[in-house]
Amino acid sequence: MYETWEELENSIRDCKKCKLCQNRNNIVFGEGNKEADIMFIGEGPGADEDSQGLPFVGKAGQLMNKAFQGLGIDRSKVYIANIVKCRPPLNRVPEDDEVDSCLDYLRNQVMLVKPKIIVLLGSTALKNILGKEYGITASRGNWITQKDILYMPTWHPAALLRDEDKKIEFWKDLKQVVEKYNEITG
Ligand code: URA
Ligand code: SF4
Repeated sequence: MYETWEELENSIRDCKKCKLCQNRNNIVFGEGNKEADIMFIGEGPGADEDSQGLPFVGKAGQLMNKAFQGLGIDRSKVYIANIVKCRPPLNRVPEDDEVDSCLDYLRNQVMLVKPKIIVLLGSTALKNILGKEYGITASRGNWITQKDILYMPTWHPAALLRDEDKKIEFWKDLKQVVEKYNEITG
């Protein structure tokens, strides 16, 4: 684990630890407030993220931004990252060997940000952070506390694109996050 952002960012440059390096255009490291109280973790870059090098800038990201605006979440005040930093081909779910290779970067990001709350966006984030025994349908909307961090699993924003009910649940879950944040930070 690196003690500084500079060392961590240098360590990922030109990373070839897994096969996802083969087709990527950009590593999507993450972005936002490096001292955020709230961190969001997605799955992996899509096409737009791969071409821009930034997380959640495509359709799903725009939907997430809308929810942020509606709930008064300032995107520049949170930190946003993904389980894998390079785009899986055809946006498939990252495979276990890819996650195993990449997860230390995210662990290091969490160590440096020291968030109070982590929002897990979708099944891939949930299962790889908290354990394979968790399912997103049963877990979403419910706080899980581990090692002084409060986790809120919710739907992946891409799942909202086709499902109005999930959109409502996503808003409810993020509303809980805002309320908890206000409670913690007074
Ligand atoms: N989906 C993700 O999981 N992450 C992104 O950054 C964009 C889409
Ligand atoms: Fe390295 Fe992660 Fe990209 Fe794999 S996905 S090449 S481990 S940065």
